[in-house]
Amino acid sequence: METVVASKPRLIRRAYSLLQYWEDGQMTIENYLTRTSLEANLLVLDMLSAATDPICNNVLSGQFSHIPAVEEIVGKLTKLNLLLVVGSRLEKRDRALEDSWKWDLNARYFHYSTGSVKYNFDLEAVRKQLEKKAITNPPPSPFKTSSADSKIILDDPQLPDVNFWEVLYQRRTCRHFEDAPISKGVFSSFLKLVAGYTHFYNDSKIDKRIIKTSPSGGARHPIEMYAFVRNVASIAPAVYHYEAETNSLAFVNHLPDQKKVLDFFSGQKWVSNAAVIFVFTAVLERSMWKYDHSRAYRVLLLDCGHLGQTFHLSATALKLGVFTTAAIQDRKIESYLHLDGIKEVVLYGGAIGVAGL
Ligand SMILES: Cc1cc2nc3c(=O)[nH]c(=O)nc-3n(C[C@H](O)[C@H](O)[C@H](O)COP(=O)(O)O)c2cc1C
Repeated sequence: METVVASKPRLIRRAYSLLQYWEDGQMTIENYLTRTSLEANLLVLDMLSAATDPICNNVLSGQFSHIPAVEEIVGKLTKLNLLLVVGSRLEKRDRALEDSWKWDLNARYFHYSTGSVKYNFDLEAVRKQLEKKAITNPPPSPFKTSSADSKIILDDPQLPDVNFWEVLYQRRTCRHFEDAPISKGVFSSFLKLVAGYTHFYNDSKIDKRIIKTSPSGGARHPIEMYAFVRNVASIAPAVYHYEAETNSLAFVNHLPDQKKVLDFFSGQKWVSNAAVIFVFTAVLERSMWKYDHSRAYRVLLLDCGHLGQTFHLSATALKLGVFTTAAIQDRKIESYLHLDGIKEVVLYGGAIGVAGL
């Protein structure tokens, strides 16, 4: 048995903020609060398990005294913040996170692991880099346009003559829709205002960038909208994709029955009477082409939020009731919309219609 040379005794414990995963075939363990990681093996996992409760570093080393240089291993695990010194600033922070975040690992890992991405704001250098990339790897189109020849061309939008501040103050979430139609004109104006493009951003040789009424991180505009048209005058009830490029609706599927709609919307029965129910999706490659870090996923959600506000305000300006919801069943909806749920994913839901009293 190896002789263990005692280090300065310190109480240590395994960090709570750890995630173990395989990367490039190598088992890795990471402290996502400090973003430090180690290529892990079963010994490391055993040692970390043995330090679930605070333990003296020398006692821990003693438990693994058959391992050569065990003290150095314990030291390395401590240096990489996989083991934390009880009472240290880091240990207190790790405990505070464990005590106060009621959400599980998924939210914690995503939030902290995407917290300090390095950005390059030398815009000229970035532009050149993207231009070079675009030669061999052209950017994806900002439009999802189908080749179907029977599309419903929407009317030209009529801008509502309203006072912006009044619209802001009037906006409320509607959870009681009348089972009544809205006109094709109002529906067309709504879609163009919310999801249509207003013009091209012409000074870019890199890609065909568009401008919409909502901002979008990196001008990627990854969000697409699908309309479950129930009650719009002169438009056959069905599920359509709104094509921003052609300002038209392309058929996707038949209108599902009410039971299915309720299932998609997690039993929120007030959507049943809405004239149109919406699903917002994200086409990931539009963002991934420009951003290869996971923080870009946050940007998708933020984009969706911006679009959601435009959705609310536009509906209010058009005197429609409006509702948005995060409580939807992504996988079931993706399947109904014939989406793979990998390259294009469901993020958000909404509805508009005649507001009930
Ligand atoms: C991102 C987001 C998700 C929401 N999800 C739901 C939902 O699942 N169900 C619901 O009834 N309301 C949902 N709402 C509506 C909020 O409950 C509503 O905005 C809030 O109660 C404030 O009311 P107001 O919109 O009338 O100001 C959501 C709102 C937002 C912005």
